Amino acid sequence: MEHHGKAQAYRNYIFVFIAQFGLAFALFFVYNYANRSVLNEEFSYSYSSVSVHQEPVNETRIILVWTWPFGGVFPLNKCPPYNDLSGCYYTANRSLYSSAAAVVMHHRDVCYSKKQLPPLPKSPNQYWVWFNLESPSHSPNLHFMDNLINLTMSYRADSDIFSPYGWLEPNQPGDNFTMPQKTKLVAWVVSNWNPSSKRVRYYEEIKKFLSVDVYGRQHLGLPRTEHAKILSQYKFYFAFENSIHEDYITEKLWKNALSSGCVPIVLGPSRQNYERFIPKDSFIHVEDFSTAEQLAKHILKLDKDEKAYQQYFSWRSRLHPFADTNWQTHYCRVCKAIKEAPTNKVIGKLGAWYR
Ligand SMILES: *[C@@H]1O[C@H](CO)[C@@H](O)[C@H](O)[C@H]1NC(C)=O
Ligand SMILES: *[C@@H]1O[C@H](CO)[C@@H](O)[C@H](O)[C@H]1NC(C)=O
Ligand SMILES: *[C@@H]1O[C@H](CO)[C@@H](O)[C@H](O)[C@H]1NC(C)=O
Ligand SMILES: *[C@@H]1O[C@H](CO)[C@@H](O)[C@H](O)[C@H]1NC(C)=O
Repeated sequence: MEHHGKAQAYRNYIFVFIAQFGLAFALFFVYNYANRSVLNEEFSYSYSSVSVHQEPVNETRIILVWTWPFGGVFPLNKCPPYNDLSGCYYTANRSLYSSAAAVVMHHRDVCYSKKQLPPLPKSPNQYWVWFNLESPSHSPNLHFMDNLINLTMSYRADSDIFSPYGWLEPNQPGDNFTMPQKTKLVAWVVSNWNPSSKRVRYYEEIKKFLSVDVYGRQHLGLPRTEHAKILSQYKFYFAFENSIHEDYITEKLWKNALSSGCVPIVLGPSRQNYERFIPKDSFIHVEDFSTAEQLAKHILKLDKDEKAYQQYFSWRSRLHPFADTNWQTHYCRVCKAIKEAPTNKVIGKLGAWYR
């Protein structure tokens, strides 16, 4: 009897244990499901294959968009399929600041006063992500960020989060390039006309030998909707950067020239630097010629030699440009990055690197 009673108690004990375990499990799933459905609403607009996070809410990393970059509002938690958003939740609600795993600050929106920065002290587990696509020449007060930011996100290839203006992707079957009909020679779109800048001085020289259609403020009009259509009629495009810095290669190359099917004539960092990102036979560098006159002669020669001109497109059988200028393209990279980022990384002097 004695022995039997003990065995019974033992069985009851196991039963209660299993029941508790089962109940805990069921609650966990109900909780998790409820949480998922809330997030699903957030994701509903999104690209079809975005994965909804699977983890309990207390493990979700909140990514706080501290300011809308240049005031440009973009959809949150809606990212291209190549971004893994699992375990992350983007918000622009500053009430969530103290629980945010990462705070992303866009330089131009926080650089005019320290009051624009998130408040201190900050949690030691929080990443401050510094985001900037402007060149160092147009990025004042970098010293505001000293010893505050943990990760950099910019066009610089050696950023913690490399976020370029564009890139090349391998062609898939059906990605055939057909050269747009070419009826004009050289185009240039310029909005900030600074007479002392390298690019304007170069233009003033080359225009003595070559006719260039200049678009932009104070020049020919270029309606936004006609942008690609008009530029694609030109054989060449002046992709002249506003300032010269390593890796500073902007939409002037990616969107205006390459995506429009024009041969880029670049003025920016060295040829070697460009060749890190695009094939060497896809563009002309102003420094390939010792004078503007020589470059002009080369352009006029190519205008008469269809076969030589076509050579600048041979890479298009393998690759095509991707130039996405949406803000979310950049912000969407933060989720993966903070999961892989080292802890205790602090950028001491930002200006010593961002030059
Ligand atoms: C929440 O966090 C705690 C502690 O980190 C963890 O033990 C637990 O599994 C997490 N999930 C839920 C649903 O509570
Ligand atoms: C921001 O978050 C707080 C705390 O969760 C919430 O009370 C508030 O309604 C949110 N504000 C907006 C605009 O969503
Ligand atoms: C596109 O390229 C494939 C091979 O890469 C070829 O079979 C097909 O005919 C091309 N289509 C057009 C419209 O040129
Ligand atoms: C970010 O940098 C601060 C110093 O400003 C540091 O206290 C904090 O631990 C760092 N965050 C992470 C997640 O490493």
